[in-house]
Amino acid sequence: MDSRGGQRVPFCQVFHCFETDNHMLKAAWQRLPDPLRRAASRLTPEPVRQIATRSWVVPVNYQHRDPSNAVVEAAHAVKVAEMYAELVRSYGQSLQGLRILEVGPGTHFGPQLLLADRGADITLVDRFVAPWDAGYHPHLYGQLRKLTGPSRALDAVITAQGYPRECLTIINQPAEAMTAVPSGSIDLVLSWAVLEHVYDLAAVCRSFARVTRPGGVGHHQVDFRDHLHTDRPLEFLLSSALRAKIDFSYRHGERGNRRRPDELVMLLKRAGFDRVDINVTEEASPAYLADFLPRLRAARASPYRSWPTDDLCILGAKITAWR
Ligand SMILES: C[S@@+](CC[C@H](N)C(=O)[O-])C[C@H]1O[C@@H](n2cnc3c(N)ncnc32)[C@H](O)[C@@H]1O
Repeated sequence: MDSRGGQRVPFCQVFHCFETDNHMLKAAWQRLPDPLRRAASRLTPEPVRQIATRSWVVPVNYQHRDPSNAVVEAAHAVKVAEMYAELVRSYGQSLQGLRILEVGPGTHFGPQLLLADRGADITLVDRFVAPWDAGYHPHLYGQLRKLTGPSRALDAVITAQGYPRECLTIINQPAEAMTAVPSGSIDLVLSWAVLEHVYDLAAVCRSFARVTRPGGVGHHQVDFRDHLHTDRPLEFLLSSALRAKIDFSYRHGERGNRRRPDELVMLLKRAGFDRVDINVTEEASPAYLADFLPRLRAARASPYRSWPTDDLCILGAKITAWR
């Protein structure tokens, strides 16, 4: 029973929320004094932790999609494919036969099919692979086919109403444990708006190092903002590690894992990438930082309380890592 602040939460009520909703448990948990919370957290057995952080939120990739967006999304897919092709050219490589692994491709595989058409050997890895949606994907790929003209990969997918193995290799595994991708088998690893969502960034960096051939490269666009408040992009750094962990599990990481650019660079180097470059694409405004920093420095429970300001400023970056 918790009696902090004069408000009592009967144990049966706490127990009931295991079966129905974990909001009440979280509320009761928040009312515990901090030292007690930390001690309880250390003592809580894993099965109880699992139930307490169980989520009813459906991952974005499993949600039903609106076919009326197909025109806009097809046009965007063409741009993304062109951007990836340009990236490959900038590394002095050709798409023909290039072994590309993209982690976290999202709700459809339009750009990747266009690259497969141009000779690339594409593997996709996702923790929540978007299933074929008969009410959406045929519209999207049909629209893409209209934009691009003849396409072996799009034709094969539209005919099969799914993804034939000769077009794409699709692996339903988290990047942390993508055991289905052979070691040293990849020339180029791509991720776009993914590394801020993974649950174990160190393990992901080790996976990338394992699958990348010597001389291969990784290119990662990372959005370091709090995805719940992109207009107040560092707010999630104020909470304790435990609270952030519960929030992360509840939303399948969609709010962001809070890891900062310096951490990512360090983890990639530690995993075995010889050179890691960071190209900053977005920074926090001075006005927001002036408001946020005093609050962060006073946030006793936050592991980011003393984090260097120059790293906190970075909200978006392209990271390139050479093996
Ligand atoms: C924000 S979406 C980005 C989708 C796409 N790259 C884009 O830019 O539109 C994040 C993607 O990463 C995937 N993802 C999240 N955690 C992952 C993990 N641990 N391993 C592999 N994929 C993950 C999600 O399922 C989703 O497809």
